[in-house]
Amino acid sequence: MKTRIFDVSGLTEETLRMAQVFAEPMAVDIVEEAMEKIREAASVIQRGGLVVFPTETVYGIGADAFNEEAVRSVYAAKGRPSDNPMIVHIARASDTALLSGGLSPEIVKLADAFWPGPLTMVLGKREGVPNQVTGGLPTVGVRLPDHPVAIELIRLAGTPIAAPSANLSGSPSPTKPEHVIADFDGKVDVILAGADCRVGIESTVVDMTVSPPEILRPGFITQDDIAEQLGLPVELDPALLGHSAQTDAAPRAPGMKYRHYAPKAEMLIVEGPREKVKTELIRLKALNESIGRHVGLLLFEEQEYTRAAHDFYARLRALDEENVDLIIAGALPVTDGLGFAVMNRMMKAAGYNIVRV
Ligand code: TXA
Ligand code: MG
Repeated sequence: MKTRIFDVSGLTEETLRMAQVFAEPMAVDIVEEAMEKIREAASVIQRGGLVVFPTETVYGIGADAFNEEAVRSVYAAKGRPSDNPMIVHIARASDTALLSGGLSPEIVKLADAFWPGPLTMVLGKREGVPNQVTGGLPTVGVRLPDHPVAIELIRLAGTPIAAPSANLSGSPSPTKPEHVIADFDGKVDVILAGADCRVGIESTVVDMTVSPPEILRPGFITQDDIAEQLGLPVELDPALLGHSAQTDAAPRAPGMKYRHYAPKAEMLIVEGPREKVKTELIRLKALNESIGRHVGLLLFEEQEYTRAAHDFYARLRALDEENVDLIIAGALPVTDGLGFAVMNRMMKAAGYNIVRV
């Protein structure tokens, strides 16, 4: 398949504002040029094609959520098991009604507080939502992304867009245009190549069909953020607390059960007080290099959780490019909500291979 790659990096919050609010001529041109490309991509969605597009979290690979054939081809392009439900992306909060029947005051509160943004709400699904999208579940994950390219694409397509992260199944999620070009050139109709994704890890998934609501996948919006908005306690899926692959609890978000986010290299996490971790990283690096292994280190600055989230997947991909045999990573403190979200990915990437110092 010939993939058309469109540069839409000109369409940002900034240029959109300059064009719409100030009619600044250069911004108007830039925005109009990007909109032309997005219009074409939207028509591809309407015809049942596949479009890779940027969001504020990671890139997504999207299809018309109501076109079963198109949704099936997303699984095929990703090489993903088809029991794994997809998140459905909408362009305005009121379109939730296309996908789900009942709106509780809690759902409205979270939509008001966090949409557009990196929060997916699992809701009871309407009958018309295809089983291919929900992996046969009676629920549907809904999200309004905070990215002008994503929003314009959905709006112009005139239909919600089902989109998993645009990585080949099992590999790290894509946060830069070169990542999606590497994985999907030749496998989709259009790639909308934007700038790097702002957040860098996937959205928080919260199940609103249970009481209290339960977080199925941690993300930039934390358990505390959600509890604070609701004025209610919010639970964590017990499977998220397991520090080992052998934890008894099966995760409730089906996508969380696969070995995921993984680099090609073997990966090991070192957990403990920072100075000790640093020393151990250096010791293990030297040890492994002495037996001829090519080692990459991954250690984020202290307290810089936003940056860690932003860089995490990109660093894994960069280390794979360097053909390292082993990645040794320093753990982040899980006492911070965002640190916890990054650690959730890091543990999976490392296959729960962890040592404590
Ligand atoms: O940030 C994101 O959410 C990105 C961008 C593209 O929006 N998308 C994304 O999709 O990460 P994906 O398919 O890679 O991950 C979706 C996760 C999976 O763990 C899946 O099992 C869970 O959400 N999920 C989706 N619908 C669900 C449902 N109805 N019930 C439980 N879990 C659901
Ligand atoms: Mg994914």
